[in-house]
Amino acid sequence: MFHWLEERPFMFAAVVIVFTAFAGIVELIPDFAKSSRPLVGTKPYTVLQLAGRGVYIKESCNSCHSQLIRPFKSETARYGMYSLSGEYAYDRPFLWGSKRTGPDLLRVGNYRTTDWHEYHMWEPKDVMPTSIMPAYKHMFTNLAKIETAYAEAYTVKKVFNVPYDKEGMPVLGSFEEAKALALKEAKEIAKDMKSKEVKALLEDGKVPEIVAMIAYLNSLK
Ligand code: HEC
Repeated sequence: MFHWLEERPFMFAAVVIVFTAFAGIVELIPDFAKSSRPLVGTKPYTVLQLAGRGVYIKESCNSCHSQLIRPFKSETARYGMYSLSGEYAYDRPFLWGSKRTGPDLLRVGNYRTTDWHEYHMWEPKDVMPTSIMPAYKHMFTNLAKIETAYAEAYTVKKVFNVPYDKEGMPVLGSFEEAKALALKEAKEIAKDMKSKEVKALLEDGKVPEIVAMIAYLNSLK
C-alpha cells in the first residue's frame, strides 16, 4: 500500500520527519501552558531535602531507581498515580532514571517511613535477604552538605524564580536561618530513628547524610 513512499527514500525521510515533529508538538505544547507547570500543591524542596537529593545524586541511586510512573495498570497498581510533568517543576536536574534494578521511588514517601528507611539503608539484606542494593552505612557518619544545598536553593530562587519564602512555600531566608531550620527539621525526623550516633551528631549541630536522605525520600509523594 505504501510502495509509492517506500520507493522514494527522500520522500520517506521527509514524511517521517513531518510525522514525528507533529507527534512531538502534540506532546509538548500542553506543557508550555502555564497551568500545567508546576502542578498545584507542588512545593520546592527544603534545604534539608535538597541536601538529601544531593546525596541521592552523588550515590547514583538513580542508576538503579527510576522516578517516573508510566500510565499502565501494572505500574499504577504498584506505585500509585502515574507521573504528570508539572510534578517535576522544581526538579533540577530531573531524576527520571532509565533503568529499574530496584523499584520506582517517585511516591515512596506514601508507603515507606523514616524508621523503615533507617533500617533498610543500613543493610538492605536485613529487610530483603535477596536484595542486591548496597548498604549505605557511611551515610550515618558522613555529614550532609547543607551549605551547598542552600546555595542551590538560593540560585534557583534568583535565577528561575522558584517561589521560596512565598506564602505556604518553604522558607529560605539567610544562610544562618536556613541552617537552623534544616537542623530543626532533621531533629524532627530523627525522633523516629534509633541510631545513637545520628542523634549525637544532631545534638552537636551536625546533620548526617542519612537524615537528609530520609527527608528527601519522605518528600517523594
Ligand atoms: C545496585 C542497584 C541499587 C542501587 C545503587 C540502589 N538501590 Fe535501592 N533498591 C535496589 C533493589 C534491587 C531494591 C529492592 C530490594 C530491597 O528492598 O532492598 C531497592 C529498594 C529500595 C527502596 C525500597 C523501595 C520500595 O518500594 O520498597 C528504597 C527506598 C531504595 N531502594 C532507596 C535507594 C537509595 C536512596 C539509594 C541510593 C543511596 C539506592 N536505593 C541505591 C537496588 C539499588
